[in-house]
Amino acid sequence: MRAEDIEEIVRIGTKEKYFQVSSSLDGFWSRKQLHNWIKSNDDVLLVAEDGDRMVGFAISSLHKPTGKATFENLWVDPSSRNRNIATKLSLHLIKGLKANGATYICGMTKTNNKNMLRLFDKLGFDKGYEYNWMGKLI
Ligand SMILES: CC(C)(COP(=O)(O)OP(=O)(O)OC[C@H]1O[C@@H](n2cnc3c(N)ncnc32)[C@H](O)[C@@H]1OP(=O)(O)O)[C@@H](O)C(=O)NCCC(=O)NCCS
Repeated sequence: MRAEDIEEIVRIGTKEKYFQVSSSLDGFWSRKQLHNWIKSNDDVLLVAEDGDRMVGFAISSLHKPTGKATFENLWVDPSSRNRNIATKLSLHLIKGLKANGATYICGMTKTNNKNMLRLFDKLGFDKGYEYNWMGKLI
């Protein structure tokens, strides 16, 4: 992911209903957060391109002291879905995280997001217990 991708990613991310975690917190990562994030040497943020068009992105974070990685966001353009783009993005992301010291990766998805649940399953993620997302701006 490069600085020039961020505007488009924010535009998409703020509209994607599957990225919304609660009714009180609408929105996505800010431009500033993403600009800071892409400078990280540990976290892996990828885009998939078809020619010069961005058709997907994947965002992760890595907590170096514990080796725990979090799969934060994954998105593929509706016109490019079912072509394994999300699978490839995920596999690249995991490879990059492992190279940076990750030993565990987890991710969350809404319980009604059947496509993402199937993708997690295909990638070998274990389905854990169900939790409520609890959050607060601090
Ligand atoms: C989820 C998403 C990223 C999948 O992208 P994609 O590029 O179409 O996925 P892939 O082609 O790599 O398919 C991966 C697997 O996901 C599952 N899957 C994806 N789309 C599916 C569909 N329409 N029907 C059934 N299974 C589907 C399948 O298991 C598929 O593997 P298979 O084809 O070998 O069975 C895409 O639908 C998306 O961007 N959704 C909106 C954003 C979102 O929900 N992100 C995740 C939030 S946590």
